[in-house]
Amino acid sequence: IDSPSSPATPATVADSFVFAFDIDGVLVRGGKAIPEAIQAMKVLNGENEFGIHVPHIFLTNGGGKSEEERCRDLSRQLQQDIRPGQFICGHTPMREMAAKYGTVLVIGGEGEKCREVAEGYGFKDVVTPGDIIKHDSATTPFRRLTAEEHANSRVRDFDDVTIDAVFVFADSRDWAGDIQIMLDLAMSQGGRLCTRSSTFDQGPPFYFSHNDVVWSAAHEHVRLGMGALRRMFEVTFDDLTHGRGKLTTHAFGKPQVPTFEFASRLMTQWRRSQHGIADAPQTVYFVGDTPESDIRGTNAVNQKADNDWYSILVKTGVYQDGTEPAFKPRVTVDNVLDAVNHGIQREM
Ligand code: G3P
Ligand code: MG
Repeated sequence: IDSPSSPATPATVADSFVFAFDIDGVLVRGGKAIPEAIQAMKVLNGENEFGIHVPHIFLTNGGGKSEEERCRDLSRQLQQDIRPGQFICGHTPMREMAAKYGTVLVIGGEGEKCREVAEGYGFKDVVTPGDIIKHDSATTPFRRLTAEEHANSRVRDFDDVTIDAVFVFADSRDWAGDIQIMLDLAMSQGGRLCTRSSTFDQGPPFYFSHNDVVWSAAHEHVRLGMGALRRMFEVTFDDLTHGRGKLTTHAFGKPQVPTFEFASRLMTQWRRSQHGIADAPQTVYFVGDTPESDIRGTNAVNQKADNDWYSILVKTGVYQDGTEPAFKPRVTVDNVLDAVNHGIQREM
């Protein structure tokens, strides 16, 4: 335990361990806090028998809004001030690709929010499905833009546009329309809409902000996620091209090890800027509900990292009590409050 001399820092801050949290199914479900999550945050912020503050970050595969807006939502839900400096969502690491591509198609989320997020990351020229449908309404036979979408989408002549890459930032709100447009590009000549390649091997690369087939929302059973959209897109591409085409798809997010390494760098910056702690933590407790994303990724980064990444599975989301998780956590507990207490007890 570190007792920093600076008056700006809390009296007692844990310096040897940190927590990282998944959001959906651990802290929030269907837009509402999971009841134990609010108390778990209080415990981390010093309301524990040792009076220590435990630094923590958030690592969700979700997205669709800027990090600032997501933090405002989460602060309200958890009744705690959460800052972008301790927050990573599925598309956050995509900002490192902004300089690589000229014109990109950004898919998913509400309204024009993902275009704004992409532009905020520095992407130079961002197209949305709405722009394409506005240009040619026959693109999606059963989808008409709402008045608001029509007003917000941009007019351009797609005959002259080459899409260099496609980024799926958040869950699609129109699977049929979005898959149609993705297939048109995958089968195009070099990313030019309205063209068809005869070899189907010239489409742009497709990046998904995560690969979760299902996730934990308000419904009692898990709901389809971006991984399912990706699968439908890939299988349909193979059907349409009789397996002759070539498609490049890639997923960011958990369980990818680079996503956890990105989180590790953020954690280092956060601890240094907030608490003046320079050394890496000895233990990172990662609390998740999805064995395939959270536990798999935490265990994989643990194989590579110098410090101990300790996976904790909770029963409030995707994982169903009584089933065998596909990837084994170090410990399984009922909920996030039990996870926090388990980590603190283990350390003290
Ligand atoms: O779309 C979000 C979902 O797939 C997962 O979010 O917070 O459980 O990583 P989270
Ligand atoms: Mg989750």
